[in-house]
Amino acid sequence: MNQLKTPKTLLEILDLKVGLKHKDRVLNILDGVSFSIKQGESLGIVGESGSGKSTTGLSVLRLTPRSTHPYTSGEIRYKGRDTLAMDDGELQKLRGKEISMILQDPMTSLNPVLRIGDQVAEAIQFIGSPSDRDKTDSVINALERVQIPAPETRVDAWPHQLSGGMKQRVVGAIALASEPKLLIADEPTTALDVTVQAQYLQLLKDLQQKFNMALMFITHDFGVVARMCDRVCVMYAGQIVETAPVQIIFDQPAHWYTEALIGGVPSLDGKLDKLTSIAGAPPKLGEKTQGCRFSARCPNSKDKCKTHEPEVVQLSDSHEVKCWYPREQ
Ligand SMILES: Nc1ncnc2c1ncn2[C@@H]1O[C@H](COP(=O)(O)OP(=O)(O)OP(=O)(O)O)[C@@H](O)[C@H]1O
Ligand code: SF4
Ligand SMILES: [Mg+2]
Repeated sequence: MNQLKTPKTLLEILDLKVGLKHKDRVLNILDGVSFSIKQGESLGIVGESGSGKSTTGLSVLRLTPRSTHPYTSGEIRYKGRDTLAMDDGELQKLRGKEISMILQDPMTSLNPVLRIGDQVAEAIQFIGSPSDRDKTDSVINALERVQIPAPETRVDAWPHQLSGGMKQRVVGAIALASEPKLLIADEPTTALDVTVQAQYLQLLKDLQQKFNMALMFITHDFGVVARMCDRVCVMYAGQIVETAPVQIIFDQPAHWYTEALIGGVPSLDGKLDKLTSIAGAPPKLGEKTQGCRFSARCPNSKDKCKTHEPEVVQLSDSHEVKCWYPREQ
């Protein structure tokens, strides 16, 4: 009998805390972040600016500033092995080959004084030492994969000779050169205009499906979440406050913050809008808080919310929320 295989868990993050030393205090940027991603799955990490999205993505490959390393705890298990416990050599083997990252400001990821072909070739060298001829073919293939027109002529181009959209595709070609199992894409389209953004997202989605690659997609834009993600983690002030399949996040958000975030987004199928702004501001980094971190902005805040930190409640197999009084389902 032909049975469908359940995808395995690829990445599992458990109680991740990342802090910074400031004077005699440690300020927690991330405070107990836990989630997992399965092979081939697309997980969105969404939240307002400063909620800790980039820090979460950067932590997976230990790319956060060195000053945070002594104040990082928890587990980041990739294929069952804790990357936080790996030495630099082991981690280097994962970077590029197994896990790639497109940084939040991809335009600055390209080296202005290296030709495009050389930069892509450098990424391909992660997967062996091909001959010069093979290398040129592989570079052209990598550029073709991200639909760069006339790639043979682009290998000799300098970054400044390419449009923003083309530069973005080159960054994608570099990240995907070694066909990673997990791609972490941190707001990869913010610098692009809407049409180019839509094309690039479609390309990423197609490649993700073709290679059965898992995707951690970091964004503040719920329109992009709807287009790209199977499941979503909503972040607030360094914590995950809700995790659910994308359809549930749109149709039945349980956390009051999630509801406020998607207030301007009518439906998954309808016209998609950008994040709406919510009155008030999240607590500042290091600000002492009691109870629920969202309580000062929450329309449903009650006495208990102001004094006791909410526990994570499992609403179903796939839906959990960190709230004392979730929205009715
Ligand atoms: N190296 C650092 N030094 C000081 N503060 C930092 C550092 N890295 C992160 N932070 C702070 O930690 C918080 C989370 O930052 P992070 O960049 O992860 O947020 P983000 O959700 O990615 O925000 P954005 O949507 O603006 O990219 C912010 O308050 C940020 O200022
Ligand atoms: S715990 Fe209370 S304040 Fe926090 S989101 Fe839930 S209802 Fe609002
Ligand atoms: Mg960020």
